[in-house]
Amino acid sequence: MREEIAKAVEYLLSSRRTVALTGAGISVESGIPPFRGPGSLWEKFDPMEYAHINAFLKDPEKIWKTLIAEMRDVLMNAAPNAGHFGLARLEKLGLMGTVITQNIDGLHQKAGSTDVIEFHGNFAWLSCLECGIRKEIGQVNAADLPPRCDCGGIFRPDCVFFGELIPPEALDRSQQASAQCDVMLVVGTSATVQPAAYMPVIARQRGAAIIEINPEPTPLTGTTSQVLVQGKAGEVMNELVSAVESLKK
Ligand code: OAD
Repeated sequence: MREEIAKAVEYLLSSRRTVALTGAGISVESGIPPFRGPGSLWEKFDPMEYAHINAFLKDPEKIWKTLIAEMRDVLMNAAPNAGHFGLARLEKLGLMGTVITQNIDGLHQKAGSTDVIEFHGNFAWLSCLECGIRKEIGQVNAADLPPRCDCGGIFRPDCVFFGELIPPEALDRSQQASAQCDVMLVVGTSATVQPAAYMPVIARQRGAAIIEINPEPTPLTGTTSQVLVQGKAGEVMNELVSAVESLKK
């Protein structure tokens, strides 16, 4: 067993309360591109032009027909991978509590995690800019964009755009979970977007051990995290959870 995996196993088995923070990297093996780096979404769409709330409010038709249409195609067909299932397996073993995710794909819940905080919202849901009513994205007419509510208002995705605040309940619960954990597993995030990237810092300041799973080092590596297990989330989680399962028997 790799030294980093052995260390991670030791931390997980001795922890009373473990939480996870996940990012786009955990869904890459499900066929969803990340936001940064080669082949990423922000390489194709300038986030200030396509993902800022002011850009959406100025020209919702443009954003619906480009960024949202592309995300809809990718996200609606995606299924969880071994990374998501690994976190759900840890929960079944009593070794994983809250999963704080920056992802909007709903794949943790599909994999079986039961306590998921969606820090940046969920792409599967829309809300009307006028009356606030919510609808599932599959229920609106994709041929006529932007989709409109019965009241005439335009629907927006229930996701956090740049320039918007994190939903207060998600932020509060995430800060609490981070402050109360003994171990935080940080999987597949570049840790560059605030305030999500601050959660591991909160955890570390309260004495938790931080384990990263990522093919690349991040700004947390060597400063906030004690262990970086380098590799793809699905592969590493399989190795890690299998080791934990064999030792728990
Ligand atoms: P990023 O795209 O910034 O970072 C993805 C991370 O995943 C990088 O650190 C990669 O090295 C890593 N990675 C790539 N493939 C991987 C794999 N197979 N397994 C594990 N890790 C892998 O995504 P986030 O950190 O999630 O916000 O980005 C944070 C936020 O920025 C997003 O939630 C989104 C974006 O703007 C909003 O839209 C509000």
